[in-house]
Amino acid sequence: MMTTHLEWVASARAAAETRVTTLAARLGGAYLHATREGRYITHSADEWTSGFWPGLLLLAYRCSGDHELLAAATAAEVGLEQAVTDDRLLLLHHDVGFQFSPTAVMRYKLTSDLAARRRGFLAANLLMGRFNPVGAFIEAWNTEDRRGLVIIDTMMNLPLLFWAAETFNQPRFRNVAIAHARTAMRTHVRPSGETHHVVRFDQETGAPQEARGGQGYAPDSCWSRGQSWALYGFALAYRYTHLNEFLSTACRVADSFIAALPPEGVPPWDFAAPDAATSPRDSSAGAIAASGLLELATLLPSGEGLPYANAAADLLHALTTRCGMLHDPAYDALLGHATGNLPKGQNIDVSLIYGDYYYLEALQKLEGLHETCW
Ligand code: GLY
Repeated sequence: MMTTHLEWVASARAAAETRVTTLAARLGGAYLHATREGRYITHSADEWTSGFWPGLLLLAYRCSGDHELLAAATAAEVGLEQAVTDDRLLLLHHDVGFQFSPTAVMRYKLTSDLAARRRGFLAANLLMGRFNPVGAFIEAWNTEDRRGLVIIDTMMNLPLLFWAAETFNQPRFRNVAIAHARTAMRTHVRPSGETHHVVRFDQETGAPQEARGGQGYAPDSCWSRGQSWALYGFALAYRYTHLNEFLSTACRVADSFIAALPPEGVPPWDFAAPDAATSPRDSSAGAIAASGLLELATLLPSGEGLPYANAAADLLHALTTRCGMLHDPAYDALLGHATGNLPKGQNIDVSLIYGDYYYLEALQKLEGLHETCW
């Protein structure tokens, strides 16, 4: 099945890399989040998505060798370090992995630059500092109204800790990542393989208190992007640890994600929303899940991995044909039809930079480039 997809994969990937290179000439090493009328608007470096545009520059750079892309990504990485060492440090969150894995960690893997390695180490220590040892979880945010909240997205920040453990030969990073993943497996993943976005914990006793809907429809619904963070995050936790509990959790979440997809193949923003068939879609959930499924496929014996690889190829094909924006030169992004935070009315049916990031990462994987920043 996968071989029949190769032609469209090669052309989608080439067009995506060309678009990133063209956009880099206009934006350089900016920080992007969402589009308005087809154009990305810029943000400051402390936004949780600030690693993804420089990360896209590095994905394009590793294929073209274009040093302008590398220079722009490096400049953005310097700005990220500034944002976690000035006063903005007080608002820093669990998404430090999303900021530094696609940038410093990836650039270190590609260039062996020790400044990039140092920034990765700094970020891993900041993420470690959010660990609550009594409850064995990494807390998401700092503000008074969001104390004790632990969210499924953090699973995808754990690779920064696994990377630090290996790179600096310091198992404490790995131990914290394992402890958090075990807690999330217990409190966020339901027996059906569906996930809660948010669980509130008592900060003193570490006991879980209640599930919350967060960016999903309801506490017990199934926010599609949360599913994709869990799918990919548990697959990576297994890749680093070889603990079967993480592999079986990743498979359970993946099975639930695939079974919930509508016939046209693009996830709705929440699989369990009552109007899921007609409500806004989230192409970013599809792109993250596709890359996660390809990861999962590499971790299983080939007979067991193939259905996940095929599901990923089908998902990417649906995203390309139904959400792809590469035919439209007036558009900045790679994918349309993404939804950021529907309950808050933010970024509905737009393009999101992380959707673009995982889309290109997954296309590159389909063509044999399996090394990622994670
Ligand atoms: N980390 C927040 C999100 O996925 O929107």
